[in-house]
Amino acid sequence: MSQATSDQHERLRERYARIVAQLEPLYAKVRDPQARMASAAALLHHKMPHFFWTGFYRFEDGDLIVGPYQGPIACMVLERHTGVCWASVDRGEPVLVADVHAFPGHIACDSRSQSEVVVPVRDAAGAIVGVLDVDSDKPDAFSQADVDGLTAVVALIHGARGDGDVGSAVSGQ
Ligand code: SME
Repeated sequence: MSQATSDQHERLRERYARIVAQLEPLYAKVRDPQARMASAAALLHHKMPHFFWTGFYRFEDGDLIVGPYQGPIACMVLERHTGVCWASVDRGEPVLVADVHAFPGHIACDSRSQSEVVVPVRDAAGAIVGVLDVDSDKPDAFSQADVDGLTAVVALIHGARGDGDVGSAVSGQ
């Protein structure tokens, strides 16, 4: 999104702020991380026209396995230390890829994906427990505004519990 105007970036930042404001009261109802991920994926995917695939990969026994997502069918398990999602985990930071074909080891779950952004998901203790991955079918579709907005969204996943916390009853905690 390097060609976008500052007005377009500002509108994008405002859109992320509205998404965060919409998720907060939903997350106050349930703290189960997968329920929260499912709601985030659905909301982001349907509010952001440049999102082609929107979803989470979660750690399970050392593997990144697919979590809640919206979009075309995706890879179930990602080869360790390969591709954009693992790069985000290994670096411990977001990874923005303008052209996935130029990214060494990129894992193409769908040949239509052209650009990608991945942000780590951390638990309350700060450990990386997965990633939020977004693909676009357009090249260079993402910017720092997406990194910042998606970082704000994933910070909510393992955030404080709310009133009427159903997740605590389900998990028995
Ligand atoms: N492209 C990712 C794999 C996941 S799909 O994009 C849904 C990667 O290289 O890690």
